Amino acid sequence: MKTAKWLESIIPSPTLAVNQKVMELKSKGKKIISLVVGEPDFETPEFIKNAAIEALKKNYTKYTETQGIIPLREAICEKLKRENGLNYEPSQIIVTCGAKQAISTDLEKVATTKTKVLILNNPSNPTGVLYNKDELLKISEWCLNKGIVVISDEIYERIVFSGRKFVSVASFSDAIYNNTITINGLSKSHCMTGWRMGYAAGPKNIIKAMSNFQSHFLSHITTFVQYASVEALKNDSFIPKMVIAYEERINTTIELMKKYMPLSECVAPDGAFYIFPTVNKYYGKSCDGKTIKNSVDMATFLLEAANVAVVPGLAFGMDNNIRLSVATSLEEIKDGLAKIGQALGKLK
Ligand SMILES: Cc1ncc(COP(=O)(O)O)c(C=O)c1O
Repeated sequence: MKTAKWLESIIPSPTLAVNQKVMELKSKGKKIISLVVGEPDFETPEFIKNAAIEALKKNYTKYTETQGIIPLREAICEKLKRENGLNYEPSQIIVTCGAKQAISTDLEKVATTKTKVLILNNPSNPTGVLYNKDELLKISEWCLNKGIVVISDEIYERIVFSGRKFVSVASFSDAIYNNTITINGLSKSHCMTGWRMGYAAGPKNIIKAMSNFQSHFLSHITTFVQYASVEALKNDSFIPKMVIAYEERINTTIELMKKYMPLSECVAPDGAFYIFPTVNKYYGKSCDGKTIKNSVDMATFLLEAANVAVVPGLAFGMDNNIRLSVATSLEEIKDGLAKIGQALGKLK
């Protein structure tokens, strides 16, 4: 059987592709330090797992509403009001298979040849930069004036470091609220990457269109995951401890980079769990007859010469950089940076 041409043109997510390679190497017994993954290394809290088990015992295993069960959409509305100053009603919410699906579904439904969309990811993956209120206001007003819809991907909103304050774009004015689709989920804040729970909040007609679309290809997300998510949204007391750990790891990495990656520069992240250093000053240098010409060469070199996996910046359209994730233990980070340092030292 042949695949259609358009299907062949779809390439895998670059970060998931690197992760796949790491898993393959590990399964062959190779010891790889992975600074790739975009998922918390902390486990899903027990109370959320117990809520899923309870839901299963209660036989919450049948079809639900496409947009998600009402108690979950109510819990999301309460969260958006409490934490983000946003007033939504359940009909303006759709629960999706992770935030990723909410983003692609929006594009599918909203973007036409005439409509333009700005995807604003704050705090940012891969840089960790957090936009402040003035910057966001300028961006969102500019979009409004140009008739550009804002998709605000706020998946890392809870992971912001000391002294910084996250604000939701849609909270600025009624006009901006009506021009914004807010995307979020529990993957990063509640360590629930594999549960696939995300959501979108926005104007009723857009959410309705997304729901119609979702009804055909997904129906809805897993029923007992929805019930567990209602409980998850009631408790965020464990988050600050994780954020402190991420910040400590970021600070340690930046210090170690001065020693082990002396030709690199990076913006100090305000949040999320990534660092995005430049590596282009190493381009043109060689080891064992191989010359590093771009971020893919660099990531390949680090994997082969240091057994450390990183994501090439090209995956984010920035070929001068690589992305390091600190969603792993301090020991792994220290070990990984030292190995990167040894490998870079071989480049002549
Ligand atoms: C900016 C951003 N948005 C969305 C996602 C996907 O989140 P989810 O697991 O909810 O699909 C990620 C995951 O890495 C991300 O970095």
